[in-house]
Amino acid sequence: KMSNEIVNVREYEALAKQKLPKMFYDYYATGADDQWTLRENIEAFARIRIRPRIMVDVSNVDMSTEVLGFKLSMPIMVAPTGHQKLAHNEVKCNLVESTIIMRCLGPSLGIFQVLSSSANSTLEDVAKTGPGIRFFQLYIFKNREGVAEVVKRAERAGFKAIVLTGDSPCLGHRENDIKNRFTLPAHLTISNFEKISDSSILQSKSDKSSLAAFADSQIDSSITWKEVAWLRGITSLPILIKGVLTGEDAALAVHSGVDGIIVSNHGARQLDYVPATISVLEEIVQAVGGRVPVFLDGGVRRGTDVFKALALGAAGVFVGRPVVYGLAVDGEAGVRKVLKMLHDEFEVALKLSGCCQVQDIKRSHVWTENDPLR
Ligand code: FNR
Repeated sequence: KMSNEIVNVREYEALAKQKLPKMFYDYYATGADDQWTLRENIEAFARIRIRPRIMVDVSNVDMSTEVLGFKLSMPIMVAPTGHQKLAHNEVKCNLVESTIIMRCLGPSLGIFQVLSSSANSTLEDVAKTGPGIRFFQLYIFKNREGVAEVVKRAERAGFKAIVLTGDSPCLGHRENDIKNRFTLPAHLTISNFEKISDSSILQSKSDKSSLAAFADSQIDSSITWKEVAWLRGITSLPILIKGVLTGEDAALAVHSGVDGIIVSNHGARQLDYVPATISVLEEIVQAVGGRVPVFLDGGVRRGTDVFKALALGAAGVFVGRPVVYGLAVDGEAGVRKVLKMLHDEFEVALKLSGCCQVQDIKRSHVWTENDPLR
């Protein structure tokens, strides 16, 4: 099946499964423990109903929006996912990490990707791939001076924001990676932290996944909200916190001075039995009270999912796995197709709900289980 025969982003997952070695596919696709949250991320979207308004003039639809002052063509962005080189057809290709994805986003699509701390290429090489907005996702390693240096490198290389991931003091218990004894192929590494960490751990077999062994030995599990102030002291870039799942933490995040919040359960890869992100979005939006923008990721697979998230107060959404599957199945064409399908589906959702622009999407456009029966 080629990209031109595919009609929705889910189809890419099945094709990626056929195409990728099991160890790599499992790394992308699966979640922690019983994978309850993994299913719930999808099912919670399905339980929300849309309340469309009809007989509205939608002959002029504008899907553009602004994120931290950057104009985007649509409120859909690409989440940070590590080890994208495992997903490309020629695993040994010399293509710069994420070049393909980056090329699709900037000038042609007008959206952006957050580059993962677990990327397989240097952020300088990624920056060279052309124009476009780029954010850098940060894990705080034990070597704090080294981390500060990486943040400064990102700033120098033109990255526009730091996305601090707050949900990963250790790696989630991902049984598939453990069973597979996940190890990174010898030619790949986490390029931006190579100098300040022992990446050989990633390439060595252990009795768990090498990702977990690596995190245990290299990641600073003592970080707290104070680290936001520390980051402020070393960079002038806006700081987003990723991984917020409660109103309490949203309030602390705002208090710590972040510029934005990403409601995320890490694609259900960290703690199992946490709620779907779409189920807690509204609680967090209410706690934040408009002081900073709130974004969401986790289980976004349809334009209607984007619509639902915006109706519940998100300023935009990020997609993780679908983009990686598109990359795995059909390289650049696959990535483009995934983003185009989400774009087109979101446009139809807007029009059929009676909205001309993202600001027109109101809370009354959706019904959730917390609302009175209608
Ligand atoms: C991730 N995610 C992630 N998050 C992060 O902050 N740093 C990282 O390095 C990674 N790496 C990563 C790898 C892979 C293979 C996946 C699937 C996910 C989490 C990611 O940013 C995002 O939160 C989820 O992927 C969103 O859920 P969906 O869209 O995949 O359902």
